[in-house]
Amino acid sequence: MKGLLEIENLTVAIGDKPLLTGVTLTVAPGEIHVVFGPNGTGKSSLIKAIMGLPPYQVTSGDVRFEGESILNLAIDERARLGIGLAFQQPPAVRDVSLAALGKALGIDKDKLHDEATQLGMRGHINRGLNDGFSGGEQKRSELLQLLLQQPKLLLLDEPESGVDVDSLKLLTAVIERLFQRDLPIRERTVGGIIVTHTGSVLKHLHATRGYVLVNGRIMCSGAPLDIFDQISENGFGNCLAEARIKEKIHDFLKG
Ligand SMILES: Nc1ncnc2c1ncn2[C@@H]1O[C@H](COP(=O)(O)OP(=O)(O)OP(=O)(O)O)[C@@H](O)[C@H]1O
Ligand SMILES: [Mg+2]
Repeated sequence: MKGLLEIENLTVAIGDKPLLTGVTLTVAPGEIHVVFGPNGTGKSSLIKAIMGLPPYQVTSGDVRFEGESILNLAIDERARLGIGLAFQQPPAVRDVSLAALGKALGIDKDKLHDEATQLGMRGHINRGLNDGFSGGEQKRSELLQLLLQQPKLLLLDEPESGVDVDSLKLLTAVIERLFQRDLPIRERTVGGIIVTHTGSVLKHLHATRGYVLVNGRIMCSGAPLDIFDQISENGFGNCLAEARIKEKIHDFLKG
């Protein structure tokens, strides 16, 4: 089946500093892939590089959306194709409100008000986007924007970090909706990548595959909840040890 997103041997740098090396990952429609990893290891850089944000330079490899390379497309062109990003730390845009964004996307006012009310953001729609929003409000604002945009490919960077228990339930329900969890598996067209440290969004989502990114490389992969349990118990040590053994076997076989 043609991938919704195909990342092939991707290498990303800022200037001469490499951030990602040889990352390969395919997301088919309906699939959710989960990226774990220590702080500062390149998870957000991967998400932002797929969206085409500066200053992340793709130095080799490819990123294809629905079979076509998107590396030469601008950010807005990628968004128009149906790629949507929820930032770990969203930038504030003082001169653009959620209401203005909804209008630009051709969203009916009542729909915007309904969605905003459900996310507890009704009082925020005329304020500057993320301008002075609390940490939890920023997370809800990011998901509200995605609900309006309805992307085919969702890139969610720590959508639940710093969120209280009640908001977490709300956000999880929205994430399930965005990923069409109300539809039978065969009818789902939306797929994506979620970066998480807490794993709490994974409980009901039945994510497809998990990866551990270390120093810009995918070191381990497996069932997302198994990886999460292992990290929770033993930290990233097991994966690093496994990766070192794999490297040694690789070196040995190469002679
Ligand atoms: N715009 C930038 N300019 C300079 N260095 C950057 C930039 N963006 C990322 N980096 C560096 O790249 C490395 C990876 O950062 P990244 O934000 O991708 O980490 P992460 O895995 O998402 O970490 P966390 O779990 O803390 O969110 C870090 O050392 C970071 O300082
Ligand atoms: Mg990050």
